[in-house]
Amino acid sequence: MIVLGIESSCDETAAAVVKDGKKILSNVVSSQVDFHKKYGGVVPEIASRKHVESIVPVIKEVLGEAKLTLDNIEGIAVTRGPGLVGSLLIGISVAKSIAYAKNLPLIGVNHLEGHLNTIFLEETDLEFPFVGLVVSGGHTNLYHVRAMGDYDFLGQTRDDAAGEAFDKVAKLLGLGYPGGAIIDKMAKDGNAAAINFPRAIIAKDSFDFSFSGIKTAVLHYIKRQDGDINNGHAKDIVASFQEAVVDVLVTKVVQAAKRCKVDKAVLAGGVAANSRLREKMAIQSEKEDIEVFIPSTYLCTDNAAMIASVGDYYLEKGITSPLTLNASSRLPLGKRLGNSTT
Ligand code: KG4
Ligand code: ZN
Repeated sequence: MIVLGIESSCDETAAAVVKDGKKILSNVVSSQVDFHKKYGGVVPEIASRKHVESIVPVIKEVLGEAKLTLDNIEGIAVTRGPGLVGSLLIGISVAKSIAYAKNLPLIGVNHLEGHLNTIFLEETDLEFPFVGLVVSGGHTNLYHVRAMGDYDFLGQTRDDAAGEAFDKVAKLLGLGYPGGAIIDKMAKDGNAAAINFPRAIIAKDSFDFSFSGIKTAVLHYIKRQDGDINNGHAKDIVASFQEAVVDVLVTKVVQAAKRCKVDKAVLAGGVAANSRLREKMAIQSEKEDIEVFIPSTYLCTDNAAMIASVGDYYLEKGITSPLTLNASSRLPLGKRLGNSTT
């Protein structure tokens, strides 16, 4: 089945054409980052307007790249949540219009389910079960993925998402937005052991996270320097901050794998592009006999290929959404287990 995927949950307008849920025929992501940069974060109203401008050109481009027309498309998959409601509605409206005009089946996809299953676009032999971490600017969610569509929700951040902490620390140091990739690059020349920022592990039996404490510790540290931070010092600060965040993420993923008695872990979401996280996860998992799978960096960040891939699975099963499909800004994923705060 050839599925057109559409993703507009935050500040990327994305479309992709995926064959049989595994093969990416084309994948286009139009980033709005330049329009949000000066505000230091995503401005929902601007995001919605930019989606309106970009969505049709992006869909035309993705079809052109795949050398297809809408007549070749057999199903439409669109992100229905979680995300910014105004942004989600743009993708959903266009998806519904195409589905109606071309008489195609439509499926609304959970953005988190998309991230969790992105890996199957590259690792087609990977078998369930595994522990899955979705770590991005909006989420730090840990799951026991038993099978496609069968997710136990283990825990999430109680305050800032990990990517949000990267973005806020970059802002504190005046490094630019979004901060994750900038810090990742800068930290390579810094000393990660220079400053011992706190690792909030919460309780050992909880899979919740907290990143606002690390961010505040960085703020206090910067204040104590009285504006006297040279470039080398800034590199040490971001390297030490990154190390603290990475330590927490790796520790929790390993703990979760042990608790769920699985020997595989999958990471996804924008922060999974972080080079130190990928490196440390690989080292730690080898010690613990856990196999780790992380998508290529371009598939870690928001994209529509992951939405088309999950959409294909449900459409093949005959599961579709009605043309009354609506956006759901706080759409949850999975069964919630006992020790989570949510
Ligand atoms: O998954 P994503 O594209 O969008 C959301 O759903 O949030 O993730 C964006 C987040 C931003 O906070 C960004 O700073 C972070 O992912 N990010 C990174 C890296 N690349 C993107 N964080 C750390 N290291 C990176 N290399
Ligand atoms: Zn995302």
